[in-house]
Amino acid sequence: MRVKGQAYRSICLAADGIGIEVIDQTQLPFHFQVVRLESLEEAVGAICRMLVRGAPLIGATAAYGMCLGLRQSSCTQALEEMARRLMGCRPTAVNLRWAVERMLGCLRPLPEEQRLAAAYGEAGRICEEDVAANEAIGRWGLALIEERWREKPSGEPVHILTHCNAGWLATVDWGTALAPVYAAAAAGIPVHVWVDETRPRNQGARLTAWELAAAGIPHHLLVDNAGGHLMQHGLIDLCIVGADRVTAGGDVCNKIGTYLKALAARDNRVPFYVALPGSTVDWTVDEGLTEIPIEERGMEEVLGIQGEDESGSIRTVAIAPLGTPAVNPAFDVTPARLVSGLITERGICRASREGLLGLYPEQGG
Ligand code: MRU
Repeated sequence: MRVKGQAYRSICLAADGIGIEVIDQTQLPFHFQVVRLESLEEAVGAICRMLVRGAPLIGATAAYGMCLGLRQSSCTQALEEMARRLMGCRPTAVNLRWAVERMLGCLRPLPEEQRLAAAYGEAGRICEEDVAANEAIGRWGLALIEERWREKPSGEPVHILTHCNAGWLATVDWGTALAPVYAAAAAGIPVHVWVDETRPRNQGARLTAWELAAAGIPHHLLVDNAGGHLMQHGLIDLCIVGADRVTAGGDVCNKIGTYLKALAARDNRVPFYVALPGSTVDWTVDEGLTEIPIEERGMEEVLGIQGEDESGSIRTVAIAPLGTPAVNPAFDVTPARLVSGLITERGICRASREGLLGLYPEQGG
């Protein structure tokens, strides 16, 4: 996608073919900074401190993190240790495990001296496949948006609500939930996006609003609690969100607050779709509520809020009495029964085992 006319991906191999360049998302929307990662330590830090975030991007960063680690040592013990460290960074997004396991599957059988070059090749393929998958999600989702548009009085935009950031910043490019929005805009279908702020880290306010502004897509930011009210007043035609893990049974784990939007959508007969690449499906898990580890983050994210002060520095201010206890689960699970459909790179299916297996038959049996 473009930032001030220049094409960017959220992650790419540096021109010297060694370092990895990522956008520091903790600085957005206030500062646009590209950061170079040079070591496994730095890749682990970038994922843990959320310079990079979003399930597919975490996976891509972990894949390149293994390349950086292999520059130090390519013996099997070092390889396994790197994989363990990367997989421990964030527990919920299954793309992290998927990418690390894919890298291990490629590298383990190779002699040590061939591993480094093979790792860069495989990490590059993971990134290219993510871009292609998201483009395809965009095409499938476009059909859905177009369908809604044809039902509306002529000239009216399709109003789409999204939660968190599942745009290009959360993937290598295009995004998942926002890919259909970008595709619709490119096809000349008028779209307007309702952006949930997504407390506590405000990925909607900080990242989605920034992405949409950069792409010239009309949007409004709303507090997390406003979505149900807008649905009751017929102001939302469609919800599209991303996912950190979708179970083989179709349950959807995504940013905290997604479940409440799905409940409101069901009560108001607003279609609720989830956009994801195949790498987000966890075929080892059927039931989401009890089987997906939910990341618990620090209380400070709830007790404070970050913004930019007049001098251009990013600062945190307290929003609750000192000493207030808080909880901070980062994700929740939306049961499959509340999901209208899953938009994948292979098509749109029902949120169920049968639906998913219809698109991914190789996972059956
Ligand atoms: O904590 P984050 O910012 O990594 O959470 C991101 C989300 O919940 C996204 O919706 C999800 O990863 C899908 S990204 C295409």
